[in-house]
Amino acid sequence: MPLDVDAIIERMPERQLLWLDTTDSTMWDAQRLAEAGCPAGTIVGAEEQTAGQGRYGRRWHSPPGTGLYFSLVLRPKLPPETMPLVTMALGLAAGEAIAQTTGLTPDLRWPNDVLLNGRKCAGILVQMHGAAVIAGMGLNVNQVEFPEEIAAIATSMRREAGLGQERETLLIALLESIDRHVQLLTASGKEPILRLFTQASSYVLGRRVMVDQGDRVLIGTTAGLDANGFLLLDQEQGGRSVIMTGGVRTLS
Ligand code: BTN
Repeated sequence: MPLDVDAIIERMPERQLLWLDTTDSTMWDAQRLAEAGCPAGTIVGAEEQTAGQGRYGRRWHSPPGTGLYFSLVLRPKLPPETMPLVTMALGLAAGEAIAQTTGLTPDLRWPNDVLLNGRKCAGILVQMHGAAVIAGMGLNVNQVEFPEEIAAIATSMRREAGLGQERETLLIALLESIDRHVQLLTASGKEPILRLFTQASSYVLGRRVMVDQGDRVLIGTTAGLDANGFLLLDQEQGGRSVIMTGGVRTLS
């Protein structure tokens, strides 16, 4: 069933919401809207994406009618160096909304993955576009299967809860939670988001991980976040590194 857009508008009448049947990527739709001067908080989503973008140029699997794929245009009054914190605020919001809607207990993997039972169920892609921030979110809600190449690492809320989930309820909870967390960052600065993320993520402190940075792989134990939201890693070969980018994978 397509998303009941009227139900969302009824709960959030002041929100600019555009919901498409199909698109290549909502990131491009949102960029066009931002360029045209849309208000902060504008959201563009689609039932299906034919070229959904993930981090590092990867594709985001976006089959019709089963997930939530949308991009949000934010215009936060924040300096560019706080973008990692915006990503964390969105991750916190996704975790909170998923927990509230499904009763499951999500984990957050720095910097932007939401996991259920160790597998990814949601991802966040934040891009600067002029003065606007385009925040893309992809949530696996009711998928029952995944393509072979991601089958071992992806999951959906339906698979983990053993029950189909109402996308409208989840989207409303998520948008409300995003508003709260972005507001918290804008009003109170980085510290509360860093604290909340550290509490919500089993990856931030004391976890043995591998960090794939493309040209090199680091192995060590996580040692918290620095003041900018970067991950600290005590490397096995000695020394502490500040991880600004890279794919973090758990090691036993
Ligand atoms: C990641 O974890 O790699 C980020 C995934 C982000 C996917 C979302 S789906 C909606 C929006 N449109 C896109 O093309 N990508 C983001």
